[in-house]
Amino acid sequence: MKIMLLGASGMLGSDCMAVFSQSHEVVAPSKKELNIIKWDLVIEKLQSVSPDVVVNCAAFTDVDACEDKDKMIYKINVEGPRNLAQGCARFHCKFVHISSDYVFDGRKAIPQPYFEDDPPKPISLYGKQKMESEVAVRDNSPNYIIVRTAWLYGVNGKNFMTSILNNALGNKKEPLKVAEDQYGSPTWTYRLAQQLLKLIEEDARGTYHATAEGYCTRFEWAKFVIEKLGLDTEVIPCSMKEFPQRAKRPANCLLENRNLKEQGLNIMRPWKEDLAAFLDQYGVQLVEQAEKS
Ligand SMILES: NC(=O)c1ccc[n+]([C@@H]2O[C@H](COP(=O)([O-])OP(=O)(O)OC[C@H]3O[C@@H](n4cnc5c(N)ncnc54)[C@H](OP(=O)(O)O)[C@@H]3O)[C@@H](O)[C@H]2O)c1
Repeated sequence: MKIMLLGASGMLGSDCMAVFSQSHEVVAPSKKELNIIKWDLVIEKLQSVSPDVVVNCAAFTDVDACEDKDKMIYKINVEGPRNLAQGCARFHCKFVHISSDYVFDGRKAIPQPYFEDDPPKPISLYGKQKMESEVAVRDNSPNYIIVRTAWLYGVNGKNFMTSILNNALGNKKEPLKVAEDQYGSPTWTYRLAQQLLKLIEEDARGTYHATAEGYCTRFEWAKFVIEKLGLDTEVIPCSMKEFPQRAKRPANCLLENRNLKEQGLNIMRPWKEDLAAFLDQYGVQLVEQAEKS
């Protein structure tokens, strides 16, 4: 299969590149080569590459900066996916688009998860843009897969875990305060990339949730990382309210992989199992990077 991958320099995109290219031809134009907000370029690229599948990991992912109401950010997060969906429809290829738990308001009581058919109700502009991107994909592409995911970590990118390590190793004597009232499922981008490939190879269609199995709080996630890496940083639970951010975040980020399970396609693993494997593989590298930061 020939796969065209957008956002290959990003956290999820780089692992998609690693996973897809083991068994398929992957063409991955950089942002410079193909800015997804440019309709003409999208069409030209689709014509010259002629892919079977387009996978869109490109997005503007700074959730707080999205509150700026910047037109360019809106274009990247909504008009880009629309261009790609319309282009894929024109060239009869499958379109795979990544969305987010932030399309929901997170007000369901823990431990109730969100299902694929729950009505979106975003509480941030980023969440609203991701919701609009989903609508643009469904309206424009007859053969699409939308995958909502959450709480991503990977070796190539800034994420919650890298900021925990930067704080822990930057202020060794200061305890780390981490929210114990926000729930989610830490999800390894490498595993998600394998899940995306499974969906593509099985010619799945529609909307799917894909996060690691099980859940925890941000506090439990941080504690697991600090303990597994043998760091002597104290981790103290606090409330999300102690660290106000510009964009509101959902307190309940639990997504149930119901459609994957019902169709026998779920390969997502328990969050602790994947996180332990990730830290075994990359822990030393992450600690060294954090010490230099
Ligand atoms: N991170 C999370 O926890 C999380 C959770 C739920 C859902 N998601 C979704 O998962 C997807 C991947 O997220 P990520 O964290 O891997 O993102 P990321 O690391 O921020 O990477 C974003 C990628 O998009 C590219 N890009 C940005 N603007 C572009 C444009 N106009 N044209 C072409 N490419 C452009 C970037 O290229 P440059 O490097 O050249 O700028 C980069 O390769 C996104 O759709 C995000 O909304 C993420």
